[in-house]
Amino acid sequence: MDWSRLKHDKLKKIDQKLLWHPFTQRQGLAEPPLIVRGRGVKLYDDQGHSYYDTISSWWTNLHGHGHPALVRAIKNQAKRLDHVNFSGFTHPAALELTAALTSHLPVALNRFFYSDDGSTAVEAALKMAFQYQFNRGFFKKTQFAYLEEGYHGDTLGAVGVSGVDDFHGVFRPLRLPSYRLPAPRAQALGNKTGNPVALTCPEEVWQTTEALLRRQADVTAAVIVEPLIQCVAGMQPYPADYLRRLGRLCRELGILVIYDEVATGFGRTGTFFALDQAGTVPDFLCLAKGLSGGVLPLALTITTAEVELAFEGPGKTFLHGHSFTANPIACASALASLRLFDSRFWRLGALERSAPVSQAFHDYLRGWQTRPELGDIRFLGHIGAVDLVNPETGKPWPATLRAGQRAYQLSLAKGLVLRPLGDTLYWFLPLCLTPRDLTNILKLSTEVLTETTQLLVREHRLLPKDGVLQDRILPVKPTPRDV
Ligand SMILES: Cc1ncc(COP(=O)(O)O)c(C=O)c1O
Repeated sequence: MDWSRLKHDKLKKIDQKLLWHPFTQRQGLAEPPLIVRGRGVKLYDDQGHSYYDTISSWWTNLHGHGHPALVRAIKNQAKRLDHVNFSGFTHPAALELTAALTSHLPVALNRFFYSDDGSTAVEAALKMAFQYQFNRGFFKKTQFAYLEEGYHGDTLGAVGVSGVDDFHGVFRPLRLPSYRLPAPRAQALGNKTGNPVALTCPEEVWQTTEALLRRQADVTAAVIVEPLIQCVAGMQPYPADYLRRLGRLCRELGILVIYDEVATGFGRTGTFFALDQAGTVPDFLCLAKGLSGGVLPLALTITTAEVELAFEGPGKTFLHGHSFTANPIACASALASLRLFDSRFWRLGALERSAPVSQAFHDYLRGWQTRPELGDIRFLGHIGAVDLVNPETGKPWPATLRAGQRAYQLSLAKGLVLRPLGDTLYWFLPLCLTPRDLTNILKLSTEVLTETTQLLVREHRLLPKDGVLQDRILPVKPTPRDV
């Protein structure tokens, strides 16, 4: 009897029967691979297939799975102190981590509030911004401004500043009082290959933004943005110049600025933080995902002494917290992760080591410009994205063909996690990637692009006039290969 097969079937049954996966529709669900091991940039399933983790396990993993330095730190910390409440107690892991982080931050950002996920870091920033204004007597400042297609998490506060209607439109009646600013897209400038961050913000976008903020200044507590690149929007980079203008205007109008670097932090954009390229300092910085090295939940809302001052005194306390705030094991992992960036401990820090790979990645994507199945191509640091289009017309595929989903299923079959955002395929690469890994990933990605397009062209020709196709998603069947 094949016990491993039996166990596999049993576990799969539990998954089908009991589990509710995030962002997942049960109807017509393709069976997800059962991942049992992770090592470096690869994930391994129980059937012996491997997958390049090209999206860093939802934009979290920085140094590869099972990194020995992080594993050691986690083990040692778990033996010493696993958890303690952070209200009324403190511990060395959080203190050492906080001190280590200060060397990567502008001096003005020097008050650290811990929580456990990206959404909680955002919730804390929104609530702090509101209460800061309230504590200073600006009682009418109850609204938030956010960018079109901006994404800041799925808890209700974060949904209140979400510009992604596909995800959050249904919750409109529950939303915070807030309003939308236009997105300062680099794509709108027709920029395919240059550095989008070095461009200037389109003037009409800025004019609208300024007019809206000036009109609403009296009721606006804060504006929230993902600096330099809007990730869920389809990895859309934008000019740093926008952030500088926004900073200046908000200072003049008494509006606080929140940078959500939950996704962009820790080297993903080519610098340690995206704000390093922005040339301006926000009032709040939200961090999570890569903070612990991407292996344990840990988040931070970092602000200024000036903001904290408004909370001093009776009746002004920030009454907010989470059970696992500053969990010592997650903090120890984060500290070990930070050390991997530090050239005092290593000949080359993680950022310096990853720079040539990110350059090669950009060169490769530039080389795809002539591929007719790709629309816009964009990249920043270790992040890159392409839009799938019909090579015969250059137009987007009809939604019924589910081009992105098909590419994803094919990618899994080839040992690659190429998760789509609509019909955009993206790479959110870990910093530990070697040139060889990159070559393999891009070679497999090219195969996925070619084969998906062939399939879609065939299906498109069969498409009835009404544009509706039977729902026939390719099954996930990884081809047997040596791991
Ligand atoms: C910019 C940004 N903010 C916040 C979040 C929410 O983070 P979490 O999923 O850890 O709550 C995400 C998640 O993708 C994100 O990309």
